[in-house]
Amino acid sequence: MRHRFPTITIAALTIIEFLALSGRNHSLLSRAFSLSKTNSRFPSKMPPTSLTKRCTAPAAAAAADDDDDAVQYFLLKSEPSEYSIEDLARDVREEWGGIRNYQARNHLRSMRVGDRAFFYHSQSSRPGIVGSVMIARTAMPDSSAYDPQSEYYDAKSTKENCRWDSVLVEYEMTFPVMLTLKELKDAVSNDPGGVIASMALFKQSRLSVVPLTRAQWVEVMTMIRNKSQEAGKTESEEGRNRKKKRIDNK
Ligand SMILES: *[C@@H]1O[C@H](CO)[C@@H](O)[C@H](O)[C@H]1NC(C)=O
Ligand SMILES: *[C@@H]1O[C@H](CO)[C@@H](O)[C@H](O)[C@H]1NC(C)=O
Repeated sequence: MRHRFPTITIAALTIIEFLALSGRNHSLLSRAFSLSKTNSRFPSKMPPTSLTKRCTAPAAAAAADDDDDAVQYFLLKSEPSEYSIEDLARDVREEWGGIRNYQARNHLRSMRVGDRAFFYHSQSSRPGIVGSVMIARTAMPDSSAYDPQSEYYDAKSTKENCRWDSVLVEYEMTFPVMLTLKELKDAVSNDPGGVIASMALFKQSRLSVVPLTRAQWVEVMTMIRNKSQEAGKTESEEGRNRKKKRIDNK
């Protein structure tokens, strides 16, 4: 576990660098920085297994453990009307549950503390990537599956036979600009053999937990950085024009 922390710090520094490059004095910059310093507050141990039966990780996750130092990357979809990045910014940490698809669940089970994920607003008039989160707790049985009051109640789930899991996600940042699904699709059209085109997001558009390669993560980050730089330029031009107008009007 200890070996993973420097990797996380480097990743967090990349974010600071990214925000700095975006040309904005983002209030979240200090938060991102403090996150990189306080990894130790992540639970080092899982809660007692007697409380909740630990699910067995699927073969894919076991194989991923071979490279224990590597941070894994994901994309997590949420309908903003149900739970948005603004909600997570307020809550800071939230249980990511209600996943009722085996493939998505298996991706949840492969997650490790310190892994990173894009927060994606789905089923909205403007779907796209709006921010990032860090995985703060690995998969455990999703309590909503046993709760008859929950909309995610699953009559076939029992505490002994855990069918569905949840992880804990921690807010990292809201990006200065949103990267829309349309912009991602444009990137695919421009480069059908490229890094973005290979994203599982396009192959399985209904999957709510999407694994990403590091190359895909970096490419998306670069697209967001480029877009926020553009937005920053436009903004300062507008600012200059407004100022000029005020002067002209004098
Ligand atoms: C940037 O943020 C810092 C810390 O919040 C603040 O002290 C400073 O005045 C801000 N700078 C600008 C140009 O807004
Ligand atoms: C980002 O901008 C740089 C410089 O304009 C450009 O070379 C690069 O291809 C862009 N990358 C992406 C992913 O948009």
